[in-house]
Amino acid sequence: MTTTHPLPTAAGSGANASEAFRASAGRVGAAGTDTERVSLLVSSTLEAVHAVIREHEVTYPEFQAAKAWLMALGEGGEWPLFLDVFVEHEVEQVAEKAQRGTAGTIQGPYYLPDQVRLPAVATLPMRTDEKGDRLVFSGQVTDLDGAPLAGAEVDFWQADADGYYSGFAPHLPDGNLRGVITADDEGRFAITTILPAPYQIPTDGPTGAMIAAAGWHPWRPAHLHLMVRADGHRQITTQLYFSGGEWLESDVARATKDELVLSPEKRDDGTHRVAYDFVLEPA
Ligand code: DHB
Ligand code: FE
Repeated sequence: MTTTHPLPTAAGSGANASEAFRASAGRVGAAGTDTERVSLLVSSTLEAVHAVIREHEVTYPEFQAAKAWLMALGEGGEWPLFLDVFVEHEVEQVAEKAQRGTAGTIQGPYYLPDQVRLPAVATLPMRTDEKGDRLVFSGQVTDLDGAPLAGAEVDFWQADADGYYSGFAPHLPDGNLRGVITADDEGRFAITTILPAPYQIPTDGPTGAMIAAAGWHPWRPAHLHLMVRADGHRQITTQLYFSGGEWLESDVARATKDELVLSPEKRDDGTHRVAYDFVLEPA
């Protein structure tokens, strides 16, 4: 793990994830929220803001600075980035209370659907000179009783060894380090990829500016992103982290959970190997 790679710019890392969000039909639109609930949620949100203003005696210059910053956040297309780092974890923790099976965590802004389909034993698409130690990540998908879920899908995406995501960072080939793996008849799979690097929120956009102005750090620990799905079962969206990894205890997105931390073993051939099994509850 290293923190020495160059500072990610908003343009270089693709901080504008608005388009990808709008295209994701499942997450946008009809939440079925009735008037009463809208009134409750909007008035509670405003009351929380009013309470901050009263408690901390927010000044006119501070109010106008906040307004300018919110405008910049929208104009820079950083609302998905900002909300997924600073808010999504709370929504996920509410959702989690009604769930069984493998723990979920935030999806973040960098999921792209319809990636290349791969067999149960596969290597993720990567550049011929892809940087980073090789990681072989294997596992089995079962139901709550431990019965294998044949043909389950593991929809996988991750940052490269510099912390950038394909489809967003313009210098990366489309589909790099992304793929949908179909597990075998026993629900098993083995994916060869690389160890990702910690991810740094772009420092020159409005989200980065706010983090710097507040004196916080902009890091997420290295992680793999997955959605695991099987017919008749609830899809899980989760991430896996690496034990001992930098920022594991201080994720800016507060999306780590102890049960989602991997401890890969380094083999003599230089590859890191680890297994993790997924348990899905009925839909
Ligand atoms: C963000 C980036 C991630 O890679 C992630 O997993 C979660 C959030 C973000 O920049 O918003
Ligand atoms: Fe991520």
